[in-house]
Amino acid sequence: GHVDKGGHKHFMAKEIAEQPSVIADALGHYLTDAGRDIRLPEDGIDFKSLDRIVMVACGTAYYACLTAKYWFEQLAGLPVEVDIASEFRYREPPVPERTAALFVSQSGETADTLAALRYCEGKAARILSVVNVPESSIARESDLALPILAGTEIGVASTKAFTCQLTVLLLLALKAAHQRGRIDNDALADKLSQLRALPTALNTALEMNETFRRSAQRLSEADNALFLGRGLMYPLALEGALKLKEISYIHAEAYASGELKHGPIALIDKKMPVIVMAPRDALFDKTVSNMQEVMARGGKVILITDPEGARAADDGVWQCLIMPEIDAVLTPILYALPAQMLAYHTAVAKGTDVDQPRNLAKSVTVE
Ligand code: G6P
Repeated sequence: GHVDKGGHKHFMAKEIAEQPSVIADALGHYLTDAGRDIRLPEDGIDFKSLDRIVMVACGTAYYACLTAKYWFEQLAGLPVEVDIASEFRYREPPVPERTAALFVSQSGETADTLAALRYCEGKAARILSVVNVPESSIARESDLALPILAGTEIGVASTKAFTCQLTVLLLLALKAAHQRGRIDNDALADKLSQLRALPTALNTALEMNETFRRSAQRLSEADNALFLGRGLMYPLALEGALKLKEISYIHAEAYASGELKHGPIALIDKKMPVIVMAPRDALFDKTVSNMQEVMARGGKVILITDPEGARAADDGVWQCLIMPEIDAVLTPILYALPAQMLAYHTAVAKGTDVDQPRNLAKSVTVE
């Protein structure tokens, strides 16, 4: 049907703001047993019968897969390989027995992702997809297509589709962890109840709009930016850099914090803003020590953390953006919001065409 901007200046702003409600919709669709269990369509997925999952996607959907790798490996002990569709499809990758292939695509029509799926036909034990458009080619050609229920996404830079992809992928990882005996009924119910509180945390973050705008105002003067994160925050750093370059045209790169000393630290000077994504999780101290190496060389740090993280480490940072406290497993979904907001307001400050950035298409259906 017809979709309008609903009072927002851009579709992207509207789609960012819709995240609490569309994530709640997705949870409503997949949760069962008073929110204590996860329901999958048809005959579901038997994660005990799998030795491996290979995940394939492009762009933002690829970063959702990269995040999911951390979840599946840590929560479910299930090895995951992630690849970019345009590489996967031509490499002739072996697909061993007991491997499921999982394709993530907002549109369900991305040419490279569809070709990668077709390559796996007759090879993978099961072809799964996580899609926003249930009638799409990728959905139709999968053995099992899981909808993300984000609703129509118009902005070329993906926002709500990304966080809904993450939500569905996390549900799958939790299902896998439960089936494989890594977590019991109560632990699953506990994680799901934390997930149900996520829309509230996202709403709290949305109320910081003015803070993000002011922060982006200063970021918009930069020619380059670096995003750093570890663990679950590493894929999110990549997504943050992608968002910023796509719509503000500021050159941005992301690195795993631990790689800083292997190259990118050479770029640090007073003109280099460094966005550090660091909730107070198990890797916090390591990320903070990398951040201090940046500050010691004059780099301007925007630290995105939680209240405890700010108390522990905001000394000397250029700006500190404080997210609500949340279970460490859920941080990629919550911290996507400041990454999107920074990119959005930076683009607005620079006067670019936010919803239709130059040279980019919403869906890449040709090679
Ligand atoms: C294009 C869009 C991106 C999207 C990517 C993959 O590059 O601009 O926002 O992440 O395609 O699209 P898909 O529909 O397969 O998720």
